[in-house]
Amino acid sequence: MSQPLVVANWKMNPQKLKEAKEIASVSDEKNVVLCPPFVFLLEIKKILKKANTGAQNCFSKKRGAFTGEISPLMLKEAGCKYVILGHSERRELFEEDTKKIREKIALVLSVGISPIVCIGEKRKSRKNEEEVKKQLVGLLKGTSLKHIIVAYEPRFAIGTGNSCPLDVAKKRLFFIKKVLQDIEKKGEKTPVLYGGSVNAKNASLYIKDAGFQGLLIGGVSLKKESFSKLLKNVTK
Ligand code: PGA
Repeated sequence: MSQPLVVANWKMNPQKLKEAKEIASVSDEKNVVLCPPFVFLLEIKKILKKANTGAQNCFSKKRGAFTGEISPLMLKEAGCKYVILGHSERRELFEEDTKKIREKIALVLSVGISPIVCIGEKRKSRKNEEEVKKQLVGLLKGTSLKHIIVAYEPRFAIGTGNSCPLDVAKKRLFFIKKVLQDIEKKGEKTPVLYGGSVNAKNASLYIKDAGFQGLLIGGVSLKKESFSKLLKNVTK
């Protein structure tokens, strides 16, 4: 089996480039994707030997008068292989809706970058499959899944320290794969990551027990020691 993909979403952290470089230096592994804030992308890319970089968002147009926005073409130029799209913080705090995220997915694919498409139910309930299905279908139906990565991130688990119970995550993974297969014949081959309060201790359980193809990590990817421990645990 190939190594699980570990994507580090640094969000609006750290504040100093020096610190960003320090974290990057301990996480420079082939299966790692570091997603720093835009302004650090070029500098981080420069020091990485094995890991890839990704962005945390982009705009839905390639060029033009869009003050303050970043084009996927610029991300390509900066060496990004991935872009996280539709993160719940973007949806909730910046009012991104399915239509907007769909446009971004199509544009990112058209410039040769892989979108990491985030989905996940709002509340903790074992009956939330329909919400997950609606998100997946709304975002991906009619799109080629070839270069898509899905990240299952139940919102109650993000940044709370309460990761999704393993049995629930495992069921959701099975369900997501089924929906992906309905969207496209070989859809079950689309990598699905788990995200939400992953730490060095529980990381390998989501890979080995629940069967996810990788992880999307927030908080822990900002702490050098715990992030390198996490990486060791998922690859051994
Ligand atoms: P967390 O964040 O690991 O801090 O819960 C995950 C995410 O927002 O992708």
